[in-house]
Amino acid sequence: MLSDHLRKGLLIVFEGTDGTGKSTQLKLLYSALKSKNYPVITTREPTDGKYGREIRRLYKNRKRYSDEEELELFLADRKEHVDALLTPALNRGKIILCDRYFLSTAAYQGAIGFNPETVLARNSFAPNPDLALLFHAPVDVGLTRIISGRGEAPNDFEKAENLQKVAAIFATIDRPYIRRIDASGSIDSVYQLVMEHVMPLFSNSSFSTLDLK
Ligand code: TMP
Repeated sequence: MLSDHLRKGLLIVFEGTDGTGKSTQLKLLYSALKSKNYPVITTREPTDGKYGREIRRLYKNRKRYSDEEELELFLADRKEHVDALLTPALNRGKIILCDRYFLSTAAYQGAIGFNPETVLARNSFAPNPDLALLFHAPVDVGLTRIISGRGEAPNDFEKAENLQKVAAIFATIDRPYIRRIDASGSIDSVYQLVMEHVMPLFSNSSFSTLDLK
């Protein structure tokens, strides 16, 4: 694994319960960085690789696998993602915006009974993010956004009771790179909060100070 201090790029991950608007914020940040010619790429987990595709089939029926098999699928997907994309891109100096990463595994698989710290330890192969933006909003706000905003029925991971447990675990995880963002406001106001955390990251990196005016 690339030791964190040698990496040339930046890994910014977007985490939180479903419907908190993290994917919308990721796209906004991507457009802003791209328009200033930063070497930015986006990616997501579950990925579109073989394990990620299998995970998506789980959404409709979570009982296809045992809990341990479910966890192993997420870990296998991440391992492939780290080896094939994240580590090479960090070595090449890319700014990676990743929609979900290992904090999601700690919270979502934690919600079905795994110890969140044990889950994090099983992710030790994965480089730590430089910044994890952890979006939180009341679960009913998120579910309303999923149902009315996206016109989708909640999948097996998005049931209210499950999301309450997921949110409670996210609230307890403590890591130095986590920045919590209250996502209950408007898209613009949440974006301002995102930028407050992203700006300092750039001034402490090899990238020139971020100027997005
Ligand atoms: P999303 O693509 O809408 O973010 O949905 C991905 C779903 O997969 C979401 O409900 C959270 C779940 N998930 C896990 O349970 N564990 C994980 O490690 C990851 C990355 C996602």
